[in-house]
Amino acid sequence: MSYRGRIALKAAIWIGSFWPLGVLLRGFMTDDLTANPIEYVTRTLGLTALVLLLTSLGMTPLRALLGWSWPIQLRRLLGLLAFFYVCLHFAVWIGLDHFFAWRRMWEDVLKRPFITVGMSALLLLIPLAATSTQGMIKRLGGAKWRLLHKLAYVIGGLGVLHFLWLAKKGRTTPYYYAIALSLLLGARVWDWGRKKLAPERVSQTKPSPPLGERVG
Ligand code: HEM
Repeated sequence: MSYRGRIALKAAIWIGSFWPLGVLLRGFMTDDLTANPIEYVTRTLGLTALVLLLTSLGMTPLRALLGWSWPIQLRRLLGLLAFFYVCLHFAVWIGLDHFFAWRRMWEDVLKRPFITVGMSALLLLIPLAATSTQGMIKRLGGAKWRLLHKLAYVIGGLGVLHFLWLAKKGRTTPYYYAIALSLLLGARVWDWGRKKLAPERVSQTKPSPPLGERVG
């Protein structure tokens, strides 16, 4: 993809990612955040985080299936944007849902399985966000970095489980996310099997991306 194409794609990702936040801010200014604003804001932020997380996970299979190298350059941006939304989602839960009542929050984490799962996903995201810079990739080394960043699939799984767990009966949306995650994992397993069975053929057909884009 050309330089201009990449810039346009990145700009589209920035605009698309901040769109839900803009909608929430506009709703806040116009006093139009539904009858249950806290729930609405929490859900919008959580759903945006999950969409960004799964989109970032989709970049590697896209490269494997279509042989394009540019999706890998977007994976880090999408992952960091997902982390940003998870932090906002968590901040709303702390500040607006629980009004900084730490003991009640701790009880919530222990008693409600969907909160325990969400919290685990957030904690696992922290080392990934902290090691997302070029400096950290070099310091850890490609192999260790790759291994650590495999956690993204566990986080995706926990995010989907969190959504499935809290969904009310009859709501089908969480199942679509579970199917999307299964397809992404399936594509990774297929790619892994393909590399194991015919490593030479795969390395011949795929151009080698520059250092830093190669990891993952
Ligand atoms: C990777 C981490 C996380 C992801 C991807 C995520 C995603 C989601 C999603 C998709 C929803 C449902 C949105 C909807 O109903 O349309 C949701 C709701 C919610 N999440 Fe999370 N979440 C995460 C972490 C957390 C954490 C750490 C907490 C708090 C400790 C939390 C608390 C909540 C609450 C309270 C709701 C709303 C429940 C309700 O409907 O009343 N989440 N989240």
